[in-house]
Amino acid sequence: MAQPILSANHLVKKYGDHTAVNDVSFTIEEGEVFGLLGPNGAGKSTTIAMLSGLFPPTTGDATIGGCDVVKQVAQVKRLIGVAPQDLALYPTLSGRENVTFFGQLYGLHGKALRERVDEVLGYVGMTERAKDAVKTYSGGMKRRINLAAGLVNHPRLLFLDEPTVGVDPQSRNHIFESVERLNREQGMTLLYTTHYMEEAERLCYRVGIIDRGKLIALDTPRNLIARLGGGIIQVGVAAVDEALAAAVAALPAVKAATFVTQAGVNGDGQPPGEEGRAILKIEASEGNAALLQALHYFNEQDVDVLSLDLLEPNLETVFLNLTGKSLRD
Ligand SMILES: Nc1ncnc2c1ncn2[C@@H]1O[C@H](COP(=O)(O)OP(=O)(O)O)[C@@H](O)[C@H]1O
Ligand SMILES: [Mg+2]
Repeated sequence: MAQPILSANHLVKKYGDHTAVNDVSFTIEEGEVFGLLGPNGAGKSTTIAMLSGLFPPTTGDATIGGCDVVKQVAQVKRLIGVAPQDLALYPTLSGRENVTFFGQLYGLHGKALRERVDEVLGYVGMTERAKDAVKTYSGGMKRRINLAAGLVNHPRLLFLDEPTVGVDPQSRNHIFESVERLNREQGMTLLYTTHYMEEAERLCYRVGIIDRGKLIALDTPRNLIARLGGGIIQVGVAAVDEALAAAVAALPAVKAATFVTQAGVNGDGQPPGEEGRAILKIEASEGNAALLQALHYFNEQDVDVLSLDLLEPNLETVFLNLTGKSLRD
């Protein structure tokens, strides 16, 4: 089997007492779009910073194209492009001048530089506005120039850190299409971070779910979702009742039932305590049967059902199921 293009081994990053990235390991195969999905503060940008040689890990190591990201940083930088979360653009310069500047940093010059800049500006659909100052651009246009800057050295592996945050729908679509085309037409490998589960589901071959610095699941979106089995049902009742949870968990079509600390992502579920409601999360082994059995049991026991949510089988529900909270704050 071919060597993975990227291999991260037990990466740890500490800021003082705070562990921002906690023992993260994964590999990326050449030609894949790999997603890191997690809420704000999960450790996505810190992971990218270590992998792209911005600062070394506290412990652990990583290789890209077989080169150590700390000891062989010059070789690594030739293989990668980075479109960071925080835009690194000069607002008074034009889009073209900004991309040209990045090209010069990579040692391009003359005709080769001009052609390359033209090509990447075209790729992100910014040819027409390329002469205007960056400060006149929309958020989405700035993101597209940021992407062009990451592409200018023709990387084998491109890091895209939350490329769609603060972006209008048109630019967002454009960024999605660029990712798909780069991968399909040029065989480029991408590491894509996001806290939007739809993006990970649409774009990524495999997704690592990260929360509080830890990688808590890693698989294809399809397999991650398949692990939800018969689905998740969330029932609002008046108060936390452990005996009730145990009785529901014992129903034949139910795998597990627990009270959760935060409301679900769908419907109008309220956090426990608010409006006197507690949320019982029911993991079904067989969805319809579990719903019928649970409702029958509540009816029998005279338990008032205050809300009922059938959570969609998607990565948001996977995250909720793993962490008890939703991806977006
Ligand atoms: N320079 C820093 N100093 C101290 N803490 C930091 C610094 N940068 C990030 N952190 C903390 O590290 C954690 C991970 O941050 P980050 O990697 O930016 O997460 P994400 O990109 O997933 O939103 C957060 O708790 C954040 O507050
Ligand atoms: Mg980030």
